[in-house]
Amino acid sequence: MSFAFSTYRRCAPKAVQMLLISVTWFCSGGHTCLISQSPSLASYFGTKTRYEEVNQFLLENPILVNRKQDLLPDTCTPLKIVSVIRHGTRYPTKNQIKKMKKMYSLIQKYGGDGSELAGKLQKWNMWYEDWMDGQLVKKGEQDMKNLAIRLATLFPSLFTADKFKNCKMSFLTSSKHRCVDSTKAFISGLEHGYFGFPPNSGAEMEDVPCREPVINDTLMRFFDHCEKFVVQVEDNDTAMHELDKFKQGPEMTKVIRKISAHLNVPERELSADLIQVAFFTCSFELAINNVADSPWCKLFDEEDGKVLEYLNDLKQYWKRGYGFDINTRSSCNLFQHIIKHLDAAVAESKRSQQISTPVVMQFGHAETLLPLLALMGLFKDEEPLTADSFSSQGDRKFRSGQIVPYASNLVFVLYHCELAKTPQEEFQVQMLLNENLLPFPHSHESVCLYEDLKKQYGHLLNYCHVKEECDLFKAMHASEDEL
Ligand SMILES: *[C@@H]1O[C@H](CO)[C@@H](O)[C@H](O)[C@H]1NC(C)=O
Ligand SMILES: *[C@@H]1O[C@H](CO)[C@@H](O)[C@H](O)[C@H]1NC(C)=O
Repeated sequence: MSFAFSTYRRCAPKAVQMLLISVTWFCSGGHTCLISQSPSLASYFGTKTRYEEVNQFLLENPILVNRKQDLLPDTCTPLKIVSVIRHGTRYPTKNQIKKMKKMYSLIQKYGGDGSELAGKLQKWNMWYEDWMDGQLVKKGEQDMKNLAIRLATLFPSLFTADKFKNCKMSFLTSSKHRCVDSTKAFISGLEHGYFGFPPNSGAEMEDVPCREPVINDTLMRFFDHCEKFVVQVEDNDTAMHELDKFKQGPEMTKVIRKISAHLNVPERELSADLIQVAFFTCSFELAINNVADSPWCKLFDEEDGKVLEYLNDLKQYWKRGYGFDINTRSSCNLFQHIIKHLDAAVAESKRSQQISTPVVMQFGHAETLLPLLALMGLFKDEEPLTADSFSSQGDRKFRSGQIVPYASNLVFVLYHCELAKTPQEEFQVQMLLNENLLPFPHSHESVCLYEDLKKQYGHLLNYCHVKEECDLFKAMHASEDEL
């Protein structure tokens, strides 16, 4: 611990305006303390990006809270937060592991006559196994514990031990293993890392029923429950047409050709998918194992990284983002649920009651967050992302590595402001994405009167009924009507 502290001190210049918080340094495994600095490819990993890439100071101190960005003046106090959080760092899925093994075996087969790097890859130990199938890794637990400490530190009046013990916090999760485990790690981070309950307080904590995560896939995996989305997008072979086109396009072909030559693996044996999985292996080695100089990373230069990042973003765009309306409309239940929570707090505050649930934490996936953010109009580019627009989209807003890395989080903060001049000014909202203020798309301001927020999104609150939006039969009839 003292070592970790001195590490931080040595790196103090950047941290001068920040606040050092001296709660328990969450660092059980020792080596997870010292997280590798970012290699040049690390910002191109899309949805497989480490959280530290978006808040680099966490590489030095994983529980540092950036308070410089002012929230609201002292006359405004946070009443309630409602959050949607992506699970922490995870293992590759079974399907990804299968492709990793395929790529590895091609290198074994042909790589002998290839470059020195091919030789290194041949000797690389293939340690990924099927059982890992997308589960949360140790580092992913750490992601959640540290996030819990930082959020609690940012909102100390909401995250009190009393509120926790009296079940005034709610923890909802997707049923997936990695999400349930993320929720548990977050709760444990609060209990032991922030509140400082002794590690063996298990028995006494059993009286706190709400410390068990509640599974709700209707909210956190709405995409599985939306028939229209499943049929028209998820299971539709032609819906990812731009993605497929990019895989065959000039930018990808160039990368494939280069790697083929490097490894001596014939081009016909390779595909965009296999190249992508080699790139992901580089990302997994960094995110899971903290290995910054894996031979897998040496296969790619920065330009390749940009192409592979675009490949990942194209998929997110068409499957989870602006590509099809149903991608985002399917999340309006979740949006309405969030607003209902905030409404309840406003009503309680107006009646001078205690806020019944000041802390609402909901754990899901990148696939939960992206549609919700797009539904709200965030990170929307003027032009759609297409197979042909790699070069013109170089400055795009829709960059999944920046938006939904592992452990990404969207937090709505409802404030009560004492010295409000008008009743409307009494309740105000801010949004934080990955612990940074997120400006509202309609005003570009980082704070919004609660009433204005509801007006601004009135169409989603009043005219988006998931049951109808996701009704496939209705969708078919609607298009027949149009004919
Ligand atoms: C999930 O949450 C929604 C919205 O609060 C609720 O209507 C639904 O009953 C919940 N489902 C389960 C299985 O708890
Ligand atoms: C599949 O996607 C294509 C392209 O968006 C669309 O034209 C087609 O209607 C979709 N098919 C189904 C069954 O929804």
